[in-house]
Amino acid sequence: MIWRCACCISTEEQPEISFHKNWDYPWEIYSLKELLHATNNFHQDNKIGEGGFGSVYWGRTSKGVEIAVKRLKAMSAKAEMEFAVEVEILGRVRHKNLLGLRGFYAGGEERLIVYDYMPNHSLIAHLHGQLADDCLLDWPRRMSVAIGSAEGLAYLHHEANPHIIHRDIKASNVLLDTEFEAKVADFGFAKLIPEGVSHMTTRVKGTLGYLAPEYAMWGKVSESCDVYSFGILLLEIISAKKPLEKLPGGVKRDIVQWVTPYVQEGALNHIADPRLKGKFDGEQLKLAVMIALRCTNNNPDNRPSMIDVVEWLTGGVGRRMKEVHNYNDHVKDMVNEEEDEENKSNITYMDHADFGKEPSDVRTTWAKPTFLL
Ligand SMILES: Nc1ncnc2c1ncn2[C@@H]1O[C@H](COP(=O)(O)OP(=O)(O)OP(=O)(O)O)[C@@H](O)[C@H]1O
Ligand SMILES: [Mg+2]
Repeated sequence: MIWRCACCISTEEQPEISFHKNWDYPWEIYSLKELLHATNNFHQDNKIGEGGFGSVYWGRTSKGVEIAVKRLKAMSAKAEMEFAVEVEILGRVRHKNLLGLRGFYAGGEERLIVYDYMPNHSLIAHLHGQLADDCLLDWPRRMSVAIGSAEGLAYLHHEANPHIIHRDIKASNVLLDTEFEAKVADFGFAKLIPEGVSHMTTRVKGTLGYLAPEYAMWGKVSESCDVYSFGILLLEIISAKKPLEKLPGGVKRDIVQWVTPYVQEGALNHIADPRLKGKFDGEQLKLAVMIALRCTNNNPDNRPSMIDVVEWLTGGVGRRMKEVHNYNDHVKDMVNEEEDEENKSNITYMDHADFGKEPSDVRTTWAKPTFLL
């Protein structure tokens, strides 16, 4: 099998990824025969789902292990890059909240990635899909999924070396194991950040509704783009609202715009998913909403780090509230400065077609909700 260096098939530079044979990697190279056997020749009945880059099949290996096999669609330089980045990055990272890579197969036109099978599917199935009505995600599970996803991201941003920006944090990329523990998946768009680099400019990838404004508009990518996407995901976990909603008349409203009036009125209970039937912890809800709004601040410098987020989500409620209040006070001043700067600037967020609204209004009003004053 001939492996090409990942950077040879990309127009975007990825530092320190090489695809040379390295026997230290913890993944296995599967044979096509084994994976065909495991998935019953990629039988339609084994298909779990389909994404932009291919289909995912359930399978069982000859050793009796359940696996999920992602079969990439038509081969192209883009698909090859996605495959190389996914295998290389996921093969290097190990964390309880990151989906485990078991191995892969690459031969001819076929590119197959083998993962641990997640019996509780993805968050999207529970929030908006076929499992939503079962309401298996009660409030404690939702909070634990939020914390787990935050921990997985904090590991990528702060512990992995080089640091990794995921770039596609969204509900379908958070999978749930038997215990409903979150596993962040899909590293095909991930970016490695060389030491000492604070941000990079790249082609925009990812999913509309989750993209940080500076990334969507200018391709400016940094860890705080993931923080923004996480903020959107957190609101989605709490409310089961989609990140972008089409209103009658075709106007799009994002989840932050939807949530803001409730925050301003102190009517936070309206934000909770009605399927919870009122069974949630009001203090935790308030805290989670505040954190989510911090994460989705327009200015990346005003967003917290994922370490802050994990600390706030996992600390004692009393302490957490105090810390977030203090942080909000601090950021309130910064937001005011930012507003002054924005008023001076020629570039407004209205310039961006994908947004088509005034997020600066929406995302800065968080600083004035009554319960914070
Ligand atoms: N390891 C796994 N275990 C169980 N189900 C999985 C696993 N990996 C993926 N899936 C399921 O397959 C579906 C398709 O995943 P895939 O990553 O291909 O696409 P997506 O995340 O929905 O969209 P996109 O291509 O935009 O990322 C997911 O929504 C998920 O439900
Ligand atoms: Mg996915």
